[in-house]
Amino acid sequence: MAEAPILVTGGAGFIGSNLVDALLARGYHVRVLDNLSTGKRSNLPQDARVELIVGDVADADCVHRAVDGCRAVVHLAAVASVQASVEDPLGTHRANLIGTLNVCEGMRAAGVRRVVFASSAAVYGNNGEGEAIGEDLPKAPLTPYAADKLASEHYLDFYRRQHGLEPVVFRFFNIYGPRQDPSSPYSGVISIFTERAQKSLPISVFGDGEQTRDFLYVGDLVEVLVQALEAPQVEQGAVNVGLARATSLNQLLQAIGAVLGQLPAISHLPARAGDIRHSRADNSRLLSRYRLPEPPTDIREGLARLLGK
Ligand SMILES: NC(=O)c1ccc[n+]([C@@H]2O[C@H](COP(=O)([O-])OP(=O)(O)OC[C@H]3O[C@@H](n4cnc5c(N)ncnc54)[C@H](O)[C@@H]3O)[C@@H](O)[C@H]2O)c1
Repeated sequence: MAEAPILVTGGAGFIGSNLVDALLARGYHVRVLDNLSTGKRSNLPQDARVELIVGDVADADCVHRAVDGCRAVVHLAAVASVQASVEDPLGTHRANLIGTLNVCEGMRAAGVRRVVFASSAAVYGNNGEGEAIGEDLPKAPLTPYAADKLASEHYLDFYRRQHGLEPVVFRFFNIYGPRQDPSSPYSGVISIFTERAQKSLPISVFGDGEQTRDFLYVGDLVEVLVQALEAPQVEQGAVNVGLARATSLNQLLQAIGAVLGQLPAISHLPARAGDIRHSRADNSRLLSRYRLPEPPTDIREGLARLLGK
C-alpha cells in the first residue's frame, strides 16, 4: 500500500507549493486539495508522489474524500486577499471559515488528528502597533478575512477539546518568496515591487515609505511547518510566525536595488486609509517551540533567491 500522504489544502498556491517541495524533499507523499483560484497546477512538480485534487474546501464531500487516508493536514486554502473579503464577505467566508469547518469534520470522520493551520497577524487589527506583537494581545479583527481566521482558530480549539484534534495554529506575518503572485494590487508588497523592478516599471509607494513590516522568507516558514507536522506533541495556543525584525518599505526598495543593481523611478502616493503603519511579531513563543534556520534568511538573501540572482 502506498504511504499515507500529508494533505495540503491550498497546496498549489504560493506557500503551499513551497511546502509541497519541502515535504517531497523529506520523502513524504503529498495530496493537494486546491480549486486553482489563485494557485496554479504549474506550481506543483511532476512527481508520482504528488496527487492533485481540484476541488473546493467549501464542498464538504470533496474535503471528506481528500482527508480520508491522510496522516495529517496542513490547511492553507483560503481567499488570502483581505480586500477580496471586504468586497465579498460571504463568498470568502465559504472558503475561509466553512472550509476550515469542513476540514475539521473531515478529520473527525477519518480519525486524522494533526492539523497545521495558517492564521494571520490580521487577527490583531491595529492593536500593538509600534510594539512587538505578542500572542496574548487583545484581538481586533477589522475585516471579514481577519474575522474568519480568528473564528477558525476558535473552531479548531473546539475540535481539540471535543474530538481530540491536534491543531497547530500559526499567525503568519508577512511571508515572501518565489511563486508569490504579484498580479493583485493587494498581494504582498515584495512580489509587486520585485516584479516591477525587474521589468523597469515605475514603483508607487503609498505614504512616505517608512511604514514597516516583519518579512519572513517562505523557505524558513516551511521548515517550521514541517516541524509542526512532525512534533510528537502539540502545545496549546497560537504561535506568531515572524522574524521580529522591522523592515521599512524604503529599506526594502534599497535592498531590491542592491540585488538588481538598479531601481526604477519611485513615486509617493497619499497613504492608504486604514493601512497599519508598523507590524512586527514578538516571536519568542515560536523560538521556544520550533527552530528557524540559523541564521534565518535575511532580506537581501531572500530577495536574491526570489530574483534568481
Ligand atoms: N502570504 C502571506 O504573507 C500570508 C500571511 C498571513 C496568512 N497567510 C495565509 O496563508 C495561506 C496561504 O496563503 P498564500 O499566500 O500562499 O496565498 P495563495 O493565494 O497563493 O494560496 C491560497 C491557495 O488556496 C487556494 N484556494 C483558495 N480558495 C480555495 C477554496 N475555496 N478551495 C480550495 N482551494 C482554495 C488557492 O487556489 C491557492 O492555491 C492562506 O490561508 C493565507 O490566508 C498568508
